[in-house]
Amino acid sequence: MCSSDLVNVPGDKSISHRYAMLASIAEGDSQIYNYSTGADCQSTLACMQALGVAAEFSEQDGRRVLAMHGRGLHGLQPPAGALDAGNSGSTIRMLSGILAAQPFRTVISGDESLAKRPMRRIMSPLSQMGARIEGTNGQFPPLTIDGAALHAIDYELPVASAQVKSCILLAGLYAEGETVVREPITTRDHTELALRELGADLVLEPRVARIRGGVPLAGKALVVPGDLSSAAFFIIAALMLRDADITVANIGLNPTRTALLDVLRGMGASIKVLHLEQINGELIGTLQVKSSRIRGGSIEGATTAALIDEIPILAVLGAVSEGGLTVRDAGELRVKETDRIETISQNLQRMRIAVDTSADGLVIPGKQQFRAAEIHACGDHRIAMAFSVAALAADEPSVIRDAGAASVSFPEFYNTLRQLTQ
Ligand code: S3P
Repeated sequence: MCSSDLVNVPGDKSISHRYAMLASIAEGDSQIYNYSTGADCQSTLACMQALGVAAEFSEQDGRRVLAMHGRGLHGLQPPAGALDAGNSGSTIRMLSGILAAQPFRTVISGDESLAKRPMRRIMSPLSQMGARIEGTNGQFPPLTIDGAALHAIDYELPVASAQVKSCILLAGLYAEGETVVREPITTRDHTELALRELGADLVLEPRVARIRGGVPLAGKALVVPGDLSSAAFFIIAALMLRDADITVANIGLNPTRTALLDVLRGMGASIKVLHLEQINGELIGTLQVKSSRIRGGSIEGATTAALIDEIPILAVLGAVSEGGLTVRDAGELRVKETDRIETISQNLQRMRIAVDTSADGLVIPGKQQFRAAEIHACGDHRIAMAFSVAALAADEPSVIRDAGAASVSFPEFYNTLRQLTQ
C-alpha cells in the first residue's frame, strides 16, 4: 500500500437487503444506487423476484442502478418453489417477517451453513403475531411459513439482533395495531431509517421502535453507502502495514455501525473523517487511514455487539498490537456463518499465533509474528478476508483454502487487495 491509495468497497450489505425488501412491497418504482455486489444480496433479490417483483440492473452515468417495481404491501405472488436464501442469515430472518403476513405458504431454505443457524429467535415472535412457522428440529432452515393476518405484539428481544428486530418490524408493517420492539442494547438501525424514508408510521425512542400496521410505503430513489464492514479489512491492513495511507470514499458511517472506528481510535489508530453528508437518513463520508502503532485493549458488552462482524479482522490486528486483544461477551460469534470463535482461533494457531478461547470470547496476546500457513476459510467470507490480511503480514506466502467465500459480501476483494499491495 502506498500514499493516498483510494479504496472502493461494495454497497453496504445490511442496507442493500433492506432496500430490496422494502422497495418490493412499496407502491411504485424505486431506483437503488450502489446495491451490494455480494452473493448474499443477490439471494435477497432472487427471492423478491421469485415473489413476483420485477427488478433489473442498468447503468446510469457510469453508476449501477437497480430498478425495482414495487407491488405494494399486498401484491407479492406465491413463489413457484422454495425460496433460496443461500448463505444469508439476513435474507431468511428479515424476509420471514414479510412472508409471515402473506396469504400463502412459503418454504425458505439456504446452504449448508445457513441450515445450522438458529431461527427460533424469529419463529417465536412471528408465531406470537399469528403466523405458523416450522423448522427442522423446531429451529433450523428450511422454514415453512404459513402466512396469516397478523396482530401487533409488544416484544422484548432476548438477544441483541438487528435481524430479529427488523423481522418483527417488517411483520409489524402488516399487523393490526401498533407493534413494539424493545432491544437490550442498541443494534444497527438501518431498517428503522429505511422504513421512515419510505413513509412508514414509525416512532423511535432509545432502544424502542413502534410501528403502526397497514400504512403503505412509497418507492423512491435510494443510495446505498459503501460497506464499512467490508472497508474494515483495508482499514486494518493500512493500520498494520508500514507506510500505508488510504482513502475510503462514500462509506456508510451510521453511528450504530462505527464502533469499530471508535475502538481503533482508542487504541491509537490514525483515522480521519474528511467529509460527511446524509442521504436517505444514512450518514455517508470519506475516511483517511494511516499506518499506526496500535496499543490493543479489550472489547466487551454493547461494544462487542456493535462490531460483531469486525471481530475476525480485529483479532488479526490484536496479534500484532502492543498489548494484545481481549474479546468478551461474543457468544453470538458461535452462531455466525461459522463458529467464528473456533475458525478465528484455528487459523491464528495455523499461523503460529497464541490464542485462548472461552465460551464467549478470545484472548490474543500482542507483539506476535504471523507465519505463513494454509488457512481454511470454511466457507466463511469474513474469515477468508481477515486471514488474507493476516497473510500480508506473514513471513512467506500463505494459501487461503475456500478464498472464494469472500464473494458472499465482497466479490472484488482480491482484486482490490492486489491493486493496493502492488
Ligand atoms: C445484520 C445483523 C447482524 C450482523 C449481520 C447483519 C443485519 O446479525 O452480524 O452480519 O443486517 O441486520 P444479528 O442480527 O444476528 O446480530
